[in-house]
Amino acid sequence: MEFNWQPREVPEVSTPYRRIKTKIPAPETVPILERLRRVEPRATVSQPPIVWHRAEGFSIYDRAGNKWVDFTSGVLVANAGYKREKMYEAMLNQLETGVWHTFLFANEPRARFVEKLKEVAPPGLDVVFLLTTGSESTEHALKLMRTFGRGLGGNKKIGIVCFEGAFHGRTLGAQQIGGTPSLKEWIVNLDPDIHQAPFPDCHRCPVGKEGYAECEDECFGQFLSFLEERLGGKDYQGRLAGVITESYQGGEARFMPKGYVERLAEWCRANQILLTFDEVQAGFGRTGEFFAFQHYGVEPDLICCGKGISGCLPLSAVIGRGEIMRQFPPGALTNTHSGNPVSCAAALAHLELILEEDLVSKAQAMEAVLREEAEAIARACPDIVWPIRVRGLVGAIGLVEPNTKNPAPALAFAAVQRAVEKGLMLFAPVGPGPATIKINPPLIITEEALRDGMAALREAIVECRRELY
Ligand SMILES: Cc1ncc(COP(=O)(O)O)c(C=O)c1O
Repeated sequence: MEFNWQPREVPEVSTPYRRIKTKIPAPETVPILERLRRVEPRATVSQPPIVWHRAEGFSIYDRAGNKWVDFTSGVLVANAGYKREKMYEAMLNQLETGVWHTFLFANEPRARFVEKLKEVAPPGLDVVFLLTTGSESTEHALKLMRTFGRGLGGNKKIGIVCFEGAFHGRTLGAQQIGGTPSLKEWIVNLDPDIHQAPFPDCHRCPVGKEGYAECEDECFGQFLSFLEERLGGKDYQGRLAGVITESYQGGEARFMPKGYVERLAEWCRANQILLTFDEVQAGFGRTGEFFAFQHYGVEPDLICCGKGISGCLPLSAVIGRGEIMRQFPPGALTNTHSGNPVSCAAALAHLELILEEDLVSKAQAMEAVLREEAEAIARACPDIVWPIRVRGLVGAIGLVEPNTKNPAPALAFAAVQRAVEKGLMLFAPVGPGPATIKINPPLIITEEALRDGMAALREAIVECRRELY
């Protein structure tokens, strides 16, 4: 599904946070969109056709001076907001040195950043390996889990359990552990030792229970039965090296029930199976805990970080227990851009901003506002909104065909486009359909700006519902 690229006459908007005064997209920006379209694969054409020209705080501007309140944080990257002075200076200072790249030669920003990461990571997760993208971090976690498993149980202990609906990136291993079958059709020869378990989702309970009905034992029992059946009988645990899950599944911001994760962690520990949380999207304060897995109160062996780790430049990391992270001999882990000094300088400043401004508590406090506003949208259109999920400053609003639970992608795309025309920056719908509208503003957003953006979203959904049905 594509957004309309033809400049469209839209009503003028003027609030303290949003300003729309031209057709959208602004006609003068269309040549840039066309140039990209001519050279890049069409599969990259996925987002609303706005050319970002300037950004500051939680505002984004195009060349024509239109202004958007940002609900994307890029794609959950700019957690401390855009154009932060501290980050700017940190990058500038590093640029001044001429040391813009060092490969794995040592550089000081890298040393300072990994130490700081160790400080914010839970005790026990004390070794950090820096990479460049989220996909690389999940690939590396796979390698660590399998290698560790082989060390314990030889070539039979290599199985990896992952979950339906998961997203861990777009490289070969990351796609195999991803839980959307259509995304991995191209692989054909899927790894038989990767096992995709059903995701325990209380909104779509496989046995038809309503809400969190304290049935984690039953739910976790189904997980074990699935594995027993799939792996064939006795000692199937002995053939598993690790479990990987996003701390919340990105597409719909869906968390596992806490009790389920507690059982999962206990079971992993009891069977020498490593537990990895993919925090690429969820980490660095987004959900009102520094890392989202902390909502579950368990201790993983590895975490994968990306996106909000740097607040801007490409950077990712695997953080984990020493005995797992230190399995490989000197020289075995190379990565061209690992610990890029400019990325690390920016990331350190970003991390300090998150801590100094206590953006984690801020995200936690704003949860109530986001929930209230999301529920107001559901009340305005109860027949097409389902489900709503909110945690900290991540929200997901599913749109469905009237009075069903069938995702309504055409409605969701229309609503996103309309919201963008009203000065609210959203990325394209995701999740099933795709028909889920994700809300992920920078964590510095004010309550007033959040409410202003949510009002635009409500108007957009109400209007599109009226026009489509
Ligand atoms: C949970 C999760 N893991 C991994 C990735 C892949 O990250 P990247 O696009 O940086 O490779 C993403 C990206 O959306 C993600 O959301």
